[in-house]
Amino acid sequence: MAEQFDIRLDSLAGAADPLTERGLVISAAVPDENTFYIETFGCQMNAHDSEKVMGVLLGRGYRQVETIDAAKLVLYNTCSIREKAAQKVFSRLGAFRKGSGPEKIIGVLGCVAQQEGEEIFERSPWVRLVCGSASYSKLPDLISELEAGNRRVMGLDTDTDATFETEFTRRDNPFRAYLTIIEGCDKACSYCVVPHTRGPERSRASAAILVEVRRLADAGYSEIQLLGQTVNSYKDPSPRRMTFAELLVAVAAVPGIRRVRFTTSHPRDFGRDIVEAIDGVPEICNHVHLPVQSGSTRILREMLRTYTREEYLEKIAMIREARRSISITSDIIVGFPGETEEDLEDTLSLLDAVQYDGIFAFQYSPRPNTAAQHMPGAIPEEEKARRLARVIDHQREIQLARNESLVGKTFEALVDGESRRAGQWSGRCSSNRVLNFTSPRTDLLGEYVQVQVSRAGPNSLVGEHLI
Ligand code: 5AD
Ligand code: SF4
Repeated sequence: MAEQFDIRLDSLAGAADPLTERGLVISAAVPDENTFYIETFGCQMNAHDSEKVMGVLLGRGYRQVETIDAAKLVLYNTCSIREKAAQKVFSRLGAFRKGSGPEKIIGVLGCVAQQEGEEIFERSPWVRLVCGSASYSKLPDLISELEAGNRRVMGLDTDTDATFETEFTRRDNPFRAYLTIIEGCDKACSYCVVPHTRGPERSRASAAILVEVRRLADAGYSEIQLLGQTVNSYKDPSPRRMTFAELLVAVAAVPGIRRVRFTTSHPRDFGRDIVEAIDGVPEICNHVHLPVQSGSTRILREMLRTYTREEYLEKIAMIREARRSISITSDIIVGFPGETEEDLEDTLSLLDAVQYDGIFAFQYSPRPNTAAQHMPGAIPEEEKARRLARVIDHQREIQLARNESLVGKTFEALVDGESRRAGQWSGRCSSNRVLNFTSPRTDLLGEYVQVQVSRAGPNSLVGEHLI
């Protein structure tokens, strides 16, 4: 769940990791007490968890610092969705091998913590805190234990029904506030570690969500992004029993909120009421991230996705019937065990049929504690890379054509970036497309502006501010 409309190329490029490439050097300087440094890997849920962790620490009088050197407490919020992501933390931890000294407290949070548990202490004995993503409600207690001088503390429960609530969350983006409405996942996709690392589904009560949205609106946020691994599987645990679609409408009705986004939706739980909410309420963004994973019904069955290609395409047809034009994006996995050339063709033809506005495409990566881990028919890595390249090339053409059809049209953009070149700005449309544009105006950050599209690339649009 990262930025949309980019075709993710990292699994192709094998991007070098600058920190480990250079070899991180940790000096012997003694950091101030109560300082922390945090690095986050992975999805938006993780990014938002880190915002809450920062809130917990700031609330306890800690100060955030920008370098590992200056920090007493060094935290890594980790991702284990694919092997490459999981390995990153071990390369980070390796840098502390040669004496971080007793000065630093190293902690591993997130999905690798949940997955590897005590193994982390064994592999990296200098780590003092291991806390999995399903146990964050215990984090304040764990930090107290560390402060009291405990050498090693650990939180790894997944049977907790508590969600991660904090009095204060330090939000990184000044315009868009993330808000988790459902944690964990009750699906059982055969390739995925999430049900294991994040535990079962737990939804927050609608009233508590709406209180937080009102607080965010008062604090000046105009865009809310509701988060969940399967956000549309939301089940209000309170007697109010608000449906997900009703919640979208209620969030959009909070004064000051101009945009409501939500990610990630599971096709199985995606109903007409969500499309009707988008159609009826302009504040609900016209974008749905609806991962298909594969275009082959046979592979979908092996993946335990609980829908066929045809059922998925019916959901797409339902979205296309809306009065508003709704952007659709997806995740695709190539090289799942047993995937044939024909299955891959099915995925390519599905891209044609759906006409996505963006995809994230990944090479299948076997994960521990998943049903697919030991499935026969493993696809060699070079072949997976070749299939990934085919999917990305195919989708790039589709995106280019779709974006080119928008030249001449005008969209509202929330301005969230300023280029070093004077008069150049960047924003996002309601559909989540990136719009780079020129304007004679200054200080546009955080404003909603009308932009006319003059040019299109596969990943973004270029235009001019209409004043
Ligand atoms: N290998 C490759 N990609 C995966 N994803 C989840 N698990 C794996 C895996 N084992 C992808 C899916 C999911 C996205 C967040 O990551 O496409 O939607
Ligand atoms: Fe993983 Fe499937 Fe749950 Fe998504 S729905 S988090 S892919 S198990």
